[in-house]
Amino acid sequence: MTPATPWNPVPVPAATDPGSVPSHWFNLVPSLPGPVPPPHEPDGARQDAWGSRVALQQRIRLDAVRAQDAATEPVLEIPERVREELAAIGRPTPLLRARALERHLETPARIYFKREDVLPTGSFKLNSAIAQAYFAAEQGVDTLVTETGAGQWGHAVAWAARRFGLDAVIYWAGVSARQKPGRHAVIEMLGAQVHPSPSERTPVGKALLRDGRHLLGSLGTAIGEAINHAALHPETRYISGSNLPHVLIHQTVIGQETKAQLAALGERPDALIACVGGGSNLGGFMGPYLAEKAERGEELLLLGAESAGAPRLTRGTLRYDHADPEGITPLSKSYTLGREYELPETHVGGLRQHSGSPVIGVLRGAGLLDAVAYEEPDIFESGRLLLSTEGMLVAPESCHAVRAAVERAVLAREAGRAEVIVACVSGNGLLDLDGYLAHR
Ligand SMILES: Cc1ncc(COP(=O)(O)O)c(C=O)c1O
Repeated sequence: MTPATPWNPVPVPAATDPGSVPSHWFNLVPSLPGPVPPPHEPDGARQDAWGSRVALQQRIRLDAVRAQDAATEPVLEIPERVREELAAIGRPTPLLRARALERHLETPARIYFKREDVLPTGSFKLNSAIAQAYFAAEQGVDTLVTETGAGQWGHAVAWAARRFGLDAVIYWAGVSARQKPGRHAVIEMLGAQVHPSPSERTPVGKALLRDGRHLLGSLGTAIGEAINHAALHPETRYISGSNLPHVLIHQTVIGQETKAQLAALGERPDALIACVGGGSNLGGFMGPYLAEKAERGEELLLLGAESAGAPRLTRGTLRYDHADPEGITPLSKSYTLGREYELPETHVGGLRQHSGSPVIGVLRGAGLLDAVAYEEPDIFESGRLLLSTEGMLVAPESCHAVRAAVERAVLAREAGRAEVIVACVSGNGLLDLDGYLAHR
């Protein structure tokens, strides 16, 4: 579906040198087909135990990211130190032509993978963790507190915090933390404190445990506890690994590099594919293509692949909801299954949340973003196919994007279409083997 009204996204200058880190982040917000609905208070917020959710967010967040969330400029300069750190971790990441997979599928399509899995902590999450740790250090903050779903964000924050001499406290969706003792150990080796959520450490966690709700834990329970922790420790600052505009902004190095790399190869994408949890790898990968999407309409497919265990874009509704089950976060508008929704146990912790990003909500609501949901056995089958063709063992979340790319390449074979399919491989799966083992 193309949008009913044309809109004017900002074109990204094509000047980015593929051999270097972009000088600016791209700000998706002014390029969206409509405004991002602002967060607001639930009814009676000022009278209940948590008080004003919006004021709490203002108090516990870093000044720089609050400014970025409100930014209206089309691009924002990346501080020099952040660019140096991004170069030090290996940016630009490679763009791989998956020829062995193409041969296996006997497809005329050309399949490219943007390799965020090669970054040192194993995922794209480092792009935003570095930026936020830098802003914290500049602001004189000592301790960061955050949540993590799959553990990849927590791992990235642990490393970035260490790099900038900060402490890190991480609330981790309990079910994922228990599935991944290896990643748990690595995060602790990096010096961060890890607490599986729900925990007895915060009033939010205690309330969930007492009432027997969300006992498996989820990104939402961990968000509630991390925010509660920050509220009780004024010396800390709370940071997010997805959903919000500033996180998507930090991830646009991915899309800018991809554009430059494809242009250097003389290629133009017909389909851009990413997995979607809170929407930050998708937003960062596709944001710089919004102007091209406006120009080409249905000729350029933007496709989000989600988990059938948390099918917000395919089965949820676009409405105001809390991002945590306890309701300590402000109401924000995104595709949601409802905060009461008890998410099933899965091996895709990074896509396992009941709500999502308001920015992605605007894109999907305007008909610009297509979506597909996959069951776990199917995504691990695609993960094993990638392992046996290209030798890449990718994160369970990334297997969703791989599955969608494979399906698209098969359709291209059936239609005899030599199209260009580009998928973001958001992470590495070596520390997430539990899911592969469960579905062998
Ligand atoms: C490897 C990996 N990919 C993707 C995601 C989903 O996050 P987002 O939707 O913000 O890109 C996660 C989240 O934890 C992840 O760990």
